Amino acid sequence: MYRIGIITMSDKGSQGQREDISGATIKEMVANLGQVEQYRVIPDDLEVIKATLVELSDLHNLDLILTTGGTGLSPRDNTPEATLAVIDRNVPGLAEAIRAESLKKTPKAMLSRAVSGTRGKTLIVNLPGSVKGVRECLEVIMPVLPHGLEILS
Ligand code: MTE
Repeated sequence: MYRIGIITMSDKGSQGQREDISGATIKEMVANLGQVEQYRVIPDDLEVIKATLVELSDLHNLDLILTTGGTGLSPRDNTPEATLAVIDRNVPGLAEAIRAESLKKTPKAMLSRAVSGTRGKTLIVNLPGSVKGVRECLEVIMPVLPHGLEILS
């Protein structure tokens, strides 16, 4: 069982103005993969996102961090920049596969700038913000996550 973190990027969610159904959806979907040990709802702030990713990777030694939201084109979408700033190795295939499969469902998948990579022994994967997006994207990578995490540990 792997140690998992979920970070929801949402200005409204972090102020208690929106229920985080996307985060709850991730939690439900990874139940067979491991234990969700850290769950955060934070604002779409570059520095806050970076600090949270570093804390969950380095202090809590999580195996996997799944983020939801903040991957689009809005000026407040900072998740890919924060992720790129903290990873030490890019793992482009996960984000590529997610985008390729997602394009079969919606052309709007082109608008996601999501990235994936590793920081130390932690794998970080960006997912979109919507519940539908989370479901569709996580389904794509779920079959390879156990093998990827096993190699990384
Ligand atoms: N990918 C899948 N599989 N399904 C979706 O519904 N939504 C898209 C895209 N990726 C979507 C998807 C939309 S509408 C946007 S704007 C981008 O992800 C970025 O979403 P985010 O800003 O919520 O992260």
